[in-house]
Amino acid sequence: MGWSSWNYYGDRINEKIIIDTIDNMVSSGLRDAGYIYVNIDDGWQKYKGSRADHPLVFDEKKFPRGIKYLADYAHAKGMKLGIYSGPGNTTCAGYTGSQGNEKADAKMFASWGVDHLKYDSCCSHQQASQKVLKQVFGDMSQALQASGRPVVFHACHCGWQNIWQWGNSVGANQWRIGQDISDDFNYPGNREGYYFDVLDMIDRGVGLEQYSGKGHWNDYDMLIIGLHGHSKELVGTGASDTEYRTHFSMWSILSSPLLIGASLDNLTKEDLDTLKNKEIIALNQDALGLQAKRYVSNGDLQIFAKPLADGSWAVALLNRSGQTAHMTLNFHQDLDLPWTKVMVRDLWQHKDLGTFGDSYQAEVQSHEAKMLVIRSGW
Ligand code: GLA
Repeated sequence: MGWSSWNYYGDRINEKIIIDTIDNMVSSGLRDAGYIYVNIDDGWQKYKGSRADHPLVFDEKKFPRGIKYLADYAHAKGMKLGIYSGPGNTTCAGYTGSQGNEKADAKMFASWGVDHLKYDSCCSHQQASQKVLKQVFGDMSQALQASGRPVVFHACHCGWQNIWQWGNSVGANQWRIGQDISDDFNYPGNREGYYFDVLDMIDRGVGLEQYSGKGHWNDYDMLIIGLHGHSKELVGTGASDTEYRTHFSMWSILSSPLLIGASLDNLTKEDLDTLKNKEIIALNQDALGLQAKRYVSNGDLQIFAKPLADGSWAVALLNRSGQTAHMTLNFHQDLDLPWTKVMVRDLWQHKDLGTFGDSYQAEVQSHEAKMLVIRSGW
């Protein structure tokens, strides 16, 4: 859990933005809610163009005191710092990559005190075979391990080449399952023929549950909550508070990394309430570390669920349609649960709803996900 600079700022980043973000995460309570990582995405590097022609150094106009200063600053506040590079000669935004310099770069990141590396091959290796990809990600993973510093390793390849099948074997701790998210809940088709909206991303993850688990996660991409169509970088027209809540609920029950993508200055009270809902976050951070499966798919009415470490189950009743719907969760038929009586709790109302026999029925608004925890009533 944390924050990443890309979804709002793109490469228009600097030291002040990172320091203000760290301070804001502390004062807003986001750090204490679990958002620990502050990840600098593409655009911290000084040079654009090929690594063969330029060194990889920070841009001292944007980051006058360098990256180590920021890592120290984050650590002093009980947080962690992330950085970005890629296996190509250039990164996606055209800055110098790490190609041929993996060991030296990993050492440099470690010497700065960096805790997370997003290593992005989406643009430089779009056509690459699995073999080549395994090689380049494996090289950086080993280089990080040789650096002696524990660094979370994000192998970012936009969900191509079935990376979920082999990401773990090359030392990746997370990998994107899809192309970049746009600030949309449900855009018809792919915006600009490329971007995924919230529902596209949810669909993409169905069937990939087995590949996600502790230390190696399917990554549904950075959150769009709080962008409201005003990102300096991402396309998209924004979503309603209900849709942002559903997005957050689903990323949580699906055990995706939760990386806030908005400028913290622009968050509304509703955005903050969404991001800080402890009962929803608990599904994401549950000790079993499971990704919810889709148990019911009745057109636009779908039910996702997963067991939790304490023996209860988390359930999402997702209404993707344009109208309010009555949705029924059949405990035995849908989830095959052995319990004769079932206690139901609503995680947005923060309320126990009572004990039920065979099923629970709810009115679910358009684009809402009703989030429940159910447990044996005996
Ligand atoms: C790719 C990634 C994004 C972001 C940019 C940076 O598009 O998918 O998340 O890191 O590169 O250039």
